[in-house]
Amino acid sequence: MVKKTLVRFGVSIEGDILARFDARIAKHRYTNRSEALRDLMRAEFVQLDWEASSNVVVGIITLVYDHHKRGLVNQLLNLQHDFPGSIICSQHVHLEHSLCLEVLVATGQARQLRVLADEMKAKKGVQFSSLNPAGYGAARPSVTAHNEHIHLKKST
Ligand code: NI
Repeated sequence: MVKKTLVRFGVSIEGDILARFDARIAKHRYTNRSEALRDLMRAEFVQLDWEASSNVVVGIITLVYDHHKRGLVNQLLNLQHDFPGSIICSQHVHLEHSLCLEVLVATGQARQLRVLADEMKAKKGVQFSSLNPAGYGAARPSVTAHNEHIHLKKST
């Protein structure tokens, strides 16, 4: 392994943000700020590399939405049916009277997952949305899926 040269740099930051960062890294048992900062940067790069990858990847889309919003449930379902990759499985949790939590495990190219997640996020009534990497490489949904609800393609 090639030994990398460490580079020092100064950071200017508001005191309250730094205090919160220090409290956080103490809680996570970091011995210094450098290691904590390195981990934050690495985590950001993992996400960026994953999104830039042209491989078929697995991603988790999490949504919280108001199911009373007119037409929203159908709009979200249509987006899933039109998704060029595959929705491996989805889990729906009725959080409270009007709020639903939905977790979708999807496979496809990362940029396609990003488009799906962004389109869902942009719908009126969606209060929270995130896309998280779950893995690289070709997923085999037919092997891994335990579907209770399958979104068949419109065209097939
Ligand atoms: Ni619900």
